[in-house]
Amino acid sequence: MSIKGTILTELRKHTGDWVSGELLSDTLNVTRSAVWKQIKILREEGYPIESLPKKGYRFLGPPDLLLPEEITAGLKTKVFGQKQNFYFKEIGSTNMEARHLAEMGYPEGTIVLAEKQTEGRGRRGRSWYSPSGEGIYVSLLLRPKIVSNEAPKIPLVTAVAVAAALKSWIENLPLQIKWPNDILVNGKKLGGILAEVSTDMEVINYVIVGIGLNVNTPGESFPPELREIATSILIATGKSCLRIRILQNILESFEKYYSFLQEGNFGRVLQKLDEFSVIKGASVRLDTAKGSITGKVLDIDDDGFLIVRDYNGTIHRVLSGDVSIIPPEENHPGTMKSLSY
Ligand code: BTN
Repeated sequence: MSIKGTILTELRKHTGDWVSGELLSDTLNVTRSAVWKQIKILREEGYPIESLPKKGYRFLGPPDLLLPEEITAGLKTKVFGQKQNFYFKEIGSTNMEARHLAEMGYPEGTIVLAEKQTEGRGRRGRSWYSPSGEGIYVSLLLRPKIVSNEAPKIPLVTAVAVAAALKSWIENLPLQIKWPNDILVNGKKLGGILAEVSTDMEVINYVIVGIGLNVNTPGESFPPELREIATSILIATGKSCLRIRILQNILESFEKYYSFLQEGNFGRVLQKLDEFSVIKGASVRLDTAKGSITGKVLDIDDDGFLIVRDYNGTIHRVLSGDVSIIPPEENHPGTMKSLSY
């Protein structure tokens, strides 16, 4: 581990207590000025570390930043977050950066994080509102050992993993998944997933899974067009949270559900989806690449496809699309309220 990393580990062990500069320099076998230099760097990165003559240094606790070293500290995964974690104060889109890294040959488990995105991308060409320090914007690089026609299961795996990870953070509020991969609380959108696949015939080269989650966003900070349809953990629970802990929970949960998929046990993912799925039995409008279908959701089948019966009685098996739930009192085509963003 680097000198900086070792200093951080030592300070972290004694969070809230003073640690003398002498002890640090002895432990690391470096000069006290070398210690001071690293402390300055840590402070610049955002770590709250106090210093006092004769007392030394005091670490006040993890900052609310998605710093790479903070992610790995105490993270219970084998792969995700344990390879290289790329961190940006500001970036266009973490998915774009992750794609670039994937093309360069970076391994599965590499992640890209940003405090802010200036061109955050959503599904179907939409943008993703990504204000600085308020949300989690992360992209995971996957090199799954599954055939390409199984790739559409990945967004569902991710949605289940994210919802399972969030359960303890949002207390007893209704947390739901709107197929295939919207995370809702109180019927409003809390998070979204953008999975982008690169294939070569049957073979998947890589998949980039981008997760956007509104964590500490106050209601008034959303642009007016999102205020009615978006929410954050802060809005839903009234409490702000340490984003890094949520991110760690998401990575741990993702690794678990992703391994079910890799082991050919997608059934375990679907079982969990049942706990959260909002659309079974609902009347919906489904916008797909081939057009729109209005009807009733009958099921999500064993492969993760949505089964919809339209108003003419035709059954559709849909791989991917954008679902708008039609309120029951407006349960006929033409008068639905869109829940999408
Ligand atoms: C959606 O439309 O619901 C998907 C939103 C996905 C947003 C995330 S934020 C991190 C990653 N980088 C992006 O540009 N988009 C995804």
